[in-house]
Amino acid sequence: LFESVELAPRDPILGLNEQYNADARTGKVNLGVGVYYDDQGRLPLLESVSKAETARIEAHAARGYLPMEGIAGYNKGAQTLLFGADSPIISSGRALTAQALGGTGALKIGADFLKALLPNAKVVISNPSWENHRALFERAGFPVETYAYYDAATHGLDFPGMLASLRALPAQTIVILHACCHNPTGVDPTFEQWQEIVQIVKENKLVPFLDIAYQGFGDGLEEDASVVRLFAQQDLTMLVSSSFSKSFSLYGERVGALTLVTSSKDESVRVLSQLKRIIRTNYSNPPTHGGTVVSTVLNTPELYTLWTTELAGMRERIRTMRVQLVEKLKAHGVTQNFDFVLDQRGMFSYSGLTSQQVDRLRDEHAIYAVSSGRICVAALNSRNIDYVAKAIASVLTA
Ligand code: LMR
Repeated sequence: LFESVELAPRDPILGLNEQYNADARTGKVNLGVGVYYDDQGRLPLLESVSKAETARIEAHAARGYLPMEGIAGYNKGAQTLLFGADSPIISSGRALTAQALGGTGALKIGADFLKALLPNAKVVISNPSWENHRALFERAGFPVETYAYYDAATHGLDFPGMLASLRALPAQTIVILHACCHNPTGVDPTFEQWQEIVQIVKENKLVPFLDIAYQGFGDGLEEDASVVRLFAQQDLTMLVSSSFSKSFSLYGERVGALTLVTSSKDESVRVLSQLKRIIRTNYSNPPTHGGTVVSTVLNTPELYTLWTTELAGMRERIRTMRVQLVEKLKAHGVTQNFDFVLDQRGMFSYSGLTSQQVDRLRDEHAIYAVSSGRICVAALNSRNIDYVAKAIASVLTA
């Protein structure tokens, strides 16, 4: 039966983890996957999370099945983070949310739902985008194309190109947009630019699918939701995939959410009934632990405040690493201007390194990065940053 099965290529991001884990060299550095490490190079367990977990364990809670759409308080918390506590989108019943297996799981439920609804539509993703966007939507049966986004010459946004691409799309094209902290480039449109983007989405009757996996890592929880709120204010129907993997440092718990904004409460009821069928036939219902922890933090004022402080700490540390990386590259003799790293938002920097230079970083220095040149700034720390800057300098200059 399996004789004809071919060996699949490694995943461009998670495959790096496999290679990194198998690397026996000491001092190795993993700048591949988007994971935040603290200044000691450890994956943090947030205190807010730890307190919520302790409370859960002490409660000796039984582990029954969750509803197919997950925990009500979790879903409400996800909506509040997206739209704000007083949003009419929420009070009118126009938003519906299903707890999902990470941001990826949310994208997949959304993709499967859209495929049934719009079987002939195409999906467009930014050029470049998160590697898994293309694979995920293609696997859901969509043709996937790109819209102009990044300008390598300026290390910034190709805004005219982006607008021209979006304007040329036929109605009902599904447009995947990174609501903040663009992955992989770290380059986001300004709010004024988003206002133009949303107008085209509206006029051309495109289907916006906002991906927000790094809320809180840009400028703050509220600030990073401004694009979602802008779209919601336009009376657009849309989809939003959220991830709490990074913001709660709960990667392995698969804590995400799919939120849809519909035209009415009645529509929301019907849409949710369809999402539940997709969930039921995929994994039945989501797991309890991570969802309960996130829900507890989001719905307990003291824990929520503690969490926002911890999130701000992660955000600030990444900023400091950006500043230090630029300084240290200069100190190690790099003459190219790397100031663009300071303007990038979120965990990543699209460094401009070529895939050959990335290969050399790995082979000669045991430093792992994505072949596109994306590096995870959140994995730099005061112990490894000098080593990394020196290694980057050596592959740039030699
Ligand atoms: C990343 O881009 O590295 C993260 O979103 C992790 C992943 O699943 O790829």
